[in-house]
Amino acid sequence: MTGGAGFIGSNFVHHLVRETAVRITVLDKLTYAASRESLEGLPSDRVSLVVGDVADGALVDGLVAASDAVVHFAAESHNDNSLTEPGPFIQTNIVGTFQILEAARRHGTRLHHISTDEVYGDLELDDPQRFTEATPYNPSSPYSAAKAGSDHLVRAWVRSFGVVATISNCSNNYGPWQHVEKFIPRQITNVIDGDRPKVYGTGTNVRDWIHAEDHSSAVWLILQQGRIGETYLIGADGERNNLDVVGRILEHFGRPADDYDLVTDRAGHDLRYAIDSSKLREELGWRPTYPDFEAGLARTIAWYQAHEDWWRPHKQATEASYAAKGQA
Ligand code: NAD
Ligand code: DAU
Repeated sequence: MTGGAGFIGSNFVHHLVRETAVRITVLDKLTYAASRESLEGLPSDRVSLVVGDVADGALVDGLVAASDAVVHFAAESHNDNSLTEPGPFIQTNIVGTFQILEAARRHGTRLHHISTDEVYGDLELDDPQRFTEATPYNPSSPYSAAKAGSDHLVRAWVRSFGVVATISNCSNNYGPWQHVEKFIPRQITNVIDGDRPKVYGTGTNVRDWIHAEDHSSAVWLILQQGRIGETYLIGADGERNNLDVVGRILEHFGRPADDYDLVTDRAGHDLRYAIDSSKLREELGWRPTYPDFEAGLARTIAWYQAHEDWWRPHKQATEASYAAKGQA
């Protein structure tokens, strides 16, 4: 798998070690978003780490040749960063996926490509429809456009070259090991530090939250039982607006519900994401094991309280970068 030292990738490694007998080779460039600590303590006969770039065709070729299946998580993943420096998003998300596809084509290797609901653009707050596998692509940011590009490459390689691949598009993940640049960890750690949560715009934007563990179980199921060439949307019916989420975090710490700051909005900020995961549930029988967002959020807060040594070294630089954009 690629990107296994990142937030969702490392959760997937832990899931596989716990729930299966597979052996995993992680290819990860160890960018700022990665964490070696997230893979510490795992059995060395089950998990190995190769430090390298998915856009390195020769390296990827050898690793894909030696694998039964590839799950491709590696990406530049943060929308805000894609607005300040889009280059790495094109290189990793598009060129990297191209190299994975070429290797899968040469070796006939089964591939599962990890993507996002953001490729579909956004929904109005009162739109009764949610995203389905048939929703037209309409990405808004350099990040989501690069992910959309990578999905199109996978679809083309399936159709034109017979690459044995599936795609999943998941909604917003939360859980342990998520970088403090992202919304939920940023607000939890702000409150731990006695600072106020920082909410973009008016805070009415809606995200559809799913625990990373549920993303992992869905990916493993699709890898085994998904129909080749198909796309599956992954979501756990977790729609909340950003003020609701911040309110829950503040409440958890006994702080007033309005103890937050509204800051400069994100350019092109998507209003609402919402996933209809009926296909995954009806075809493959998947169900989330963490359907209660508030309970999952409380566990995640506890995790950040217990792992200050992990996130603390990144907090100051992350906040300085937000401050430079008027978002702190
Ligand atoms: P993350 O930023 O936490 O981790 C990305 C990982 O990829 C890091 O370990 C990083 O070192 C690695 N990486 C980056 N560039 C690389 C390169 N060129 N070569 C090798 N490794 C490289 O990201 P995440 O939030 O865990 O997201 C993982 C995947 O899931 C991404 O494809 C993302 O688009 C997708 N996704 C994320 C979410 C979410 O809510 N975070 C939701 C749906 C889909
Ligand atoms: O929907 C899936 C996507 O979810 C993934 O593809 C991305 O990789 C992942 O980063 C996430 O994208 P978002 O842009 O939705 O996540 P982020 O955590 O950056 O922001 C969530 C919401 O919170 C969004 O409406 C912006 C807002 N926000 C974010 C930050 C960092 C704030 O209001 N304040 C903040 O400080």
